[in-house]
Amino acid sequence: MKNKFYQGDDLTPRLLFLLSARLEETIQTVFPLKEGKWLVITKKHKWFLKRYSSLSQLEKQIQLHRFLSNNGFTKVIPFHPISPIKFEKQVFAVMPFIEPSKKPFRFQTKAEREEALQLLALFHQKTENVSEEMASGFHMFDQISVWRKRLTAFQSLLPELVRYFPPAILEHYTDMGKWCLEHVVEQPGDEGKMAVIHGDVAAHNFFRSAAGSLYLIDFDLAARAPALFDYVQWVNRVLPIVGWDVEKIMEHRVLSLYARKKNWLIYTMFPADVFRECRRVMSTSSKEKRIAYQHAYELTVKSFTKRKEFFKKWKREWEKQQG
Ligand SMILES: Nc1ncnc2c1ncn2[C@@H]1O[C@H](COP(=O)(O)OP(=O)(O)O)[C@@H](O)[C@H]1O
Ligand SMILES: [Mg+2]
Repeated sequence: MKNKFYQGDDLTPRLLFLLSARLEETIQTVFPLKEGKWLVITKKHKWFLKRYSSLSQLEKQIQLHRFLSNNGFTKVIPFHPISPIKFEKQVFAVMPFIEPSKKPFRFQTKAEREEALQLLALFHQKTENVSEEMASGFHMFDQISVWRKRLTAFQSLLPELVRYFPPAILEHYTDMGKWCLEHVVEQPGDEGKMAVIHGDVAAHNFFRSAAGSLYLIDFDLAARAPALFDYVQWVNRVLPIVGWDVEKIMEHRVLSLYARKKNWLIYTMFPADVFRECRRVMSTSSKEKRIAYQHAYELTVKSFTKRKEFFKKWKREWEKQQG
């Protein structure tokens, strides 16, 4: 095997030997892309190799991919049939390496945002019909409990966070989170049909290929829940990009169905992004802390006035709806 192998992470020559035998292809080069992900170049093809946290985690993703492609959803990158590959208590999967577009997909333009929503809508149209057997492989997603934990984690980090962010602003976000959790209606029963949701609707999990196709990737957080919760995440990711301009978001027709749900306003008001990014600052190593801090500061402090106005406006709207 001609192998200019970069020993990044813990991909060993023995694993490469196994991979080469399973692929029935000669491996020429391996590039570590990021932790647990590699580009494998053989004489014939380019492959994307990814390590998974467990066999069951990977197997349910393989089943979901199979279900989606059997049902005409072509915007997922298929697993190579040699997947899963078990090696020394580790689990890997192989899929074609798709050449990425030079311009990454970022939810920056209205056209990009609409394209992402259309793709999600098509995905849910399929996953609302998965069999009970397949659905049961995915854990039940409980938005309120996830957010309760997120708020609690944020509160427990406050003594450290006040060294990085203005305390009054942190307090304000805590109050916003508490208000949402106090007023959200548990089990409203109108959140829609159960589906498999993607569970991590961030722009980096939409993959634009050099050829122009948009794929939905990375189903590590896929779960069982009404489709609504993927749109809640989408809104949470997009609001900072559109300066918390709600009208801009509601121009997208896909959302109209979900905007009628009882908890919609509250779900979109919860400052999940602030809680997530502040926690990331505290948990990242010194090398990446500066970048994480810049991002969190932008979201938490620089946009505070806009966020406050947005919260006030939608709270008023929510009160109006309550009559
Ligand atoms: N089949 C593929 N071909 C080329 N690049 C890929 C492919 N799958 C994923 N990637 C790239 O690798 C990145 C990480 O993959 P992903 O599955 O999202 O893992 P995670 O987010 O858990 O690190 C993606 O954001 C994408 O840029
Ligand atoms: Mg990802």
